[in-house]
Amino acid sequence: MFPPRLLFPLIPLLLHSHLKAQDGEQLYGLYCAACHAPDGKGATGGAFPPLAGSEWLHGNPKRSVAIVLKGLHGPIEVGGKSYNLEMPPQGDALGDDQIVAILNFVHKAWGNKGQEVKRDLVRVVRAEFTTRTTPWTAPELLKLFPFEKKPTALANLTSRVYKGQWNQTPDFTKIQSENVEEEHSGILDTALAAMKEDFGIVWEGDFMAPADGEYSFILDADDGAKLILDGKTVAEVKGLGPIDGSRVAKGKATLKAGANPIRIEYFQGKGQQGISLGWKTASTKKWQWVSASSQKNTGGNPQIPLMPQDGKTVIYRNFIKGSTARGIGFGFPGEVNMVYSADNLAPELIWAGDFMDAGLHWTNRGQGFQTPMSDEVITLTAQRSLAPTARFKGYSLDPKGNPTFHVKIDGQLLSDAFALGADGTLVRTLKLSGGTSVLEIPLGDNPSVTTEKSVSLAPDKPVTVTYKLR
Ligand code: HEC
Repeated sequence: MFPPRLLFPLIPLLLHSHLKAQDGEQLYGLYCAACHAPDGKGATGGAFPPLAGSEWLHGNPKRSVAIVLKGLHGPIEVGGKSYNLEMPPQGDALGDDQIVAILNFVHKAWGNKGQEVKRDLVRVVRAEFTTRTTPWTAPELLKLFPFEKKPTALANLTSRVYKGQWNQTPDFTKIQSENVEEEHSGILDTALAAMKEDFGIVWEGDFMAPADGEYSFILDADDGAKLILDGKTVAEVKGLGPIDGSRVAKGKATLKAGANPIRIEYFQGKGQQGISLGWKTASTKKWQWVSASSQKNTGGNPQIPLMPQDGKTVIYRNFIKGSTARGIGFGFPGEVNMVYSADNLAPELIWAGDFMDAGLHWTNRGQGFQTPMSDEVITLTAQRSLAPTARFKGYSLDPKGNPTFHVKIDGQLLSDAFALGADGTLVRTLKLSGGTSVLEIPLGDNPSVTTEKSVSLAPDKPVTVTYKLR
C-alpha cells in the first residue's frame, strides 16, 4: 500500500542510538514518531496505525516488546480500523534499555494504561524469539498474547450441564446435572458443554447492574432459552429453531444497582447450537453482549457487526427485515443508518446506532432476512411513494460511499442522494431534471424525524431535507 521509500527517512535517525535510556519520549520521537506521529495518532493523517489508545499496548507487556523487536506485517485492526502495512523490526537498532524507556513512555502517554515494562522482560523476550527472522503477523501475536477480556455484567457465574432430549425448555430443577463449573469469563457459550445434541445448560450468577433503573434484554437461541431475573422470567425463546432473529425474545426488568440474581436456561435439540444474550439501558443505544460472539465451531451464526470503515459509508445488499426484497442498507459513519427500497423508490427504514449483523448471511449464504442491530428502527414508508409508471434506474456511489438513487418518471429523471449531516442527521438531496411537471415527494410519516410530510420538487430546483435521528 505504501511504497517502501516512505519508510527510509527513518534510517538517519538510527545514528542517535547514543541517547540515554531514560529519554523515553525523545527516543520515541526518533524511532517511532515518523510512522506513529508525535501525538501517537498515526503519521500521515492516520494512514499509519495509532499508538494512542491502541489495544495492542494493553494487557501482557510482552506483546509490545515482541512487536518492537521483530516488527509486524500483514492485516491488523487497531481501534476498529484496518491496516495492512509493514513495520520494520527495531530489535537490532535498539538496546534493551532503550526499548524499556520507549515502551514505558508509550504505555503511559496519551491516556494509555499499558503495564510497566521491566528491563528483564526485554531480555527474556529477546531470548525467547532469538531464532525468529520474520516480522509478526497480528494473528500470531494474538495467539501468543491474547487480549484480556473485559469483565461482562455477569459475575459469579456457574454453569450446569444436563443431558436429555426436549422440545421445550424443561424444568431443570427436576433433573440431575452432569457437572457444575465456574465461568470466570462471564460469557455464555454453549461450547462449554462439549456436546453436539440433546443437552441443556443452566447458568446462574449475578447481573451487575451499573445503576438503578430499567434494563432491556434481548435473547436468542438455537434451540430454546429462558432468561430469569430475581426469579421472574423476563424473556423466553420457545421450542426448536435457529438463532436468526426470527424467534428473538425481548424483555425489561427494573433492577437495583449492584448484584441481581440471574439465571439463564438453555437447551439444544439437534443440529446447530448457540445462545445470544444482550442488555442495555435507556441511556445506552447499543446492546452489551454477554454471550460468545462466535459459535463457529458448532455451526451457529457468529454475530458479525458490519460497520462503516475509514469514514466511508458501508453498504448491505442482502434481505433486510422490515424492508422489501429489494431493500439496500447503508451504514453511514456516525451511527446513522438507512434502508432504501428499490421497490418503493423511497428510504424505508432509518435508525441510529449499530448497522447490521452480517453474521447470518456470511455463514448461511443468504438465507432469511437479516435484522438491523437496533430495536428502534423507524419506518418512514411502507408503500410505493411515486407514480406507478416510475422505474428504478439503479444507484451510484460517491467516493465516500454515499448513494444517489436514480428514478425515471414519465420522461423526467429524479436523483435522490443521501449523506450524513451535522449532529447525526441524515441529509437527503432531491433533484429533478427534464420535463416541466412538479412532483410531490412523500418524506415519510414520522414527525419525530421530519416535520414535513412531503416536498414539492420542480425541475432543476434541488431540495434538501434533513432527517433527525436523535
Ligand atoms: C517505519 C514505520 C514504523 C516505525 C519506525 C515504527 N512502527 Fe510501529 N507500526 C508500523 C506499522 C506500519 C504498523 C502496522 C503493521 C501492519 O499493518 O501489520 C505498526 C504497528 C505497531 C504496533 C501495533 C499496532 C498499534 O498501532 O498499536 C505497535 C504497538 C507499534 N507499531 C509500536 C511501535 C513502536 C513502539 C515503535 C518505535 C520503537 C514503532 N512502532 C516504530 C510502522 C512503524
